[in-house]
Amino acid sequence: MTLLPSFGDRLNVVVLGASGGIGSALVDLLDAQSNVERVFAFSRSGQTRTGHKIVRGAIDYADEDSIVRAAQRVATWGPCHLVIVATGFLHDGQGNGPEKSYRALTGDGLATSFQVNTIGPALAARYFVPLLPRESKAVFAALSARVGSISDNRLGGWYGYRASKAALNMLIKTLAIEVSRNRKDTICVGLHPGTVDTTLSQPFQAGVAEDKLFASEYAAGHLLSVINGLTPDDSGHTFAWDGARIPF
Ligand SMILES: NC(=O)c1ccc[n+]([C@@H]2O[C@H](COP(=O)([O-])OP(=O)(O)OC[C@H]3O[C@@H](n4cnc5c(N)ncnc54)[C@H](OP(=O)(O)O)[C@@H]3O)[C@@H](O)[C@H]2O)c1
Repeated sequence: MTLLPSFGDRLNVVVLGASGGIGSALVDLLDAQSNVERVFAFSRSGQTRTGHKIVRGAIDYADEDSIVRAAQRVATWGPCHLVIVATGFLHDGQGNGPEKSYRALTGDGLATSFQVNTIGPALAARYFVPLLPRESKAVFAALSARVGSISDNRLGGWYGYRASKAALNMLIKTLAIEVSRNRKDTICVGLHPGTVDTTLSQPFQAGVAEDKLFASEYAAGHLLSVINGLTPDDSGHTFAWDGARIPF
């Protein structure tokens, strides 16, 4: 059984942020797919769970060389058909971020948001897109967020997170345009997982209805289903967990 039948057989899949709530659920679920041969699980510590299909490694966005080394290592195993960037930053767990007011903006805080939510995924695209096969369906997907939609911003707040995710959406759109010129079956998208019960959302779960707070496993299953259904016409856009396109 597989949630990814549209890709064919013997898939190599890369997950960045494999230590996170959603990233680790994706690794678990990918490991269980019959047509997935290998899951490359990258995290800052390099210490995610083990498994016979799982190849672990370290990536820290503060060290660009770590991304280069990771991509070189994956390349030695052949093409990789799906890359999922599941890294992200909203708060540091010490009361810093997200900003409710412009008065709370700091250069360091904004730099961290952009480093993790925009620059890291952009560098992941730089080094991992060349590993995608040209002759079959391939997907580069980065976890974005609905709050990165400029037209959907009705509440304000969360300046750095919103802006860095909006910038990520623009990077994905630009990447999709370039990639479509010589890789017609490669699809580049942003994905919104819904509100998911992880460390990232934990301080903000109080006002979320029980049926709107997803378990990581539930979100991961929906994300793989969305990825499975993607076609080249979808490239450049951001999709929610239920497959609905999110406006820019
Ligand atoms: N949870 C939600 O409700 C929700 C809603 C909308 C969108 N999202 C998006 O979904 C994605 C995953 O979120 P999550 O809820 O799973 O968050 P999470 O549990 O906090 O996981 C975040 C991941 O990002 C990694 N990371 C942070 N800084 C990094 C850096 N400098 N270099 C490399 N990796 C770094 C973390 O690694 P370490 O373990 O080393 O810290 C961890 O693997 C994020 O992009 C988030 O914005 C989540």
